[in-house]
Amino acid sequence: MRKILISLGSLVLTFLLVCPNPIHSEELKEIKLLKPQMDGGRLLMQVLKDRHSSREFSTDELPLQVLSNLLWAAFGINRPDSGKRTAPSAVNWQNIDIYVAMTKGLYLYDAKSNILKPVLAEDIRAATGTQSFVKNVPVNLIYVADFSKIPRGTEEDKNFYSAAHTGFISQNVYLYCASEGLATVVRGLIDREAMSKVMKLRPDQKVMFAQSVGYPKK
Ligand SMILES: Cc1cc2nc3c(=O)[nH]c(=O)nc-3n(C[C@H](O)[C@H](O)[C@H](O)COP(=O)(O)O)c2cc1C
Repeated sequence: MRKILISLGSLVLTFLLVCPNPIHSEELKEIKLLKPQMDGGRLLMQVLKDRHSSREFSTDELPLQVLSNLLWAAFGINRPDSGKRTAPSAVNWQNIDIYVAMTKGLYLYDAKSNILKPVLAEDIRAATGTQSFVKNVPVNLIYVADFSKIPRGTEEDKNFYSAAHTGFISQNVYLYCASEGLATVVRGLIDREAMSKVMKLRPDQKVMFAQSVGYPKK
C-alpha cells in the first residue's frame, strides 16, 4: 500500500513539473475562434490617421468574429507554410504569448489551432492594471514573454527583444481597432509581480504590457 502511495505521489509530482501551465479550471471550455476575415478593413492611410489611445470603453462584449479577427491581426499566422506571423520577431523566436482576460476567465491564444485555451475560470480583469477602467473592459490582452524561447543572451537582451516584439503586436492591435472603430490602449501601468501570481506564470515567463480593447463608450 505504501509503495502504491509513493508511486502515485511521484506520478503527480512528475505531472506538475512537466506540465508548465496546468489548467486551473476544468470547467472553463476552450473557445474555437472563427476564420479571420481578410477582406475587410479601411484604407491603411485612413487607419493611421485615426489610430489613437482611448480609456473610455463600453461594457459590450466583442462578437466572436471580431475577437477572432483582432487576435489574428495581433499575432496570427499569415503564412501557414512557414508558420510565420503578422508581427515580426528576431530570429523568428515568436516568444510573445497573448493571454486574454474576459468576464468568463483567462485564456491563452493558440494561433496554430486558432483557439483560446482555457487557463483560469476567474475574472482577473481588475488585476490586469492599476487604472480603474480595466476591470470593466470586455477584453484585456496581456502580452507575456516566454524567455525559454530565447535560447541565448543576457536577461537584459531578452527583455529588450521581448519589448520590441510586444510593440509590433500592440501596434497591429491599434491598427485593427482604428480600422474597426474599436477603443484601445496599451498599458505599462501594471503590477507585474501580482499579475504573474494571479496568472500562475512560470519563472521564465514575464508580463510585458497589457492592452484593453472594447467598443468606445456611448
Ligand atoms: C509602452 C507604452 C506604455 C503605455 N502605458 C500606458 C498606461 O499604462 N496607461 C495608459 O493609460 N496609457 C498608456 N500608454 C498610452 C500612452 O499614454 C499614449 O500612447 C500616449 O499618450 C499617446 O497617445 P496616443 O496613443 O493616442 O497617440 C502607453 C503607451 C506605450 C507605448
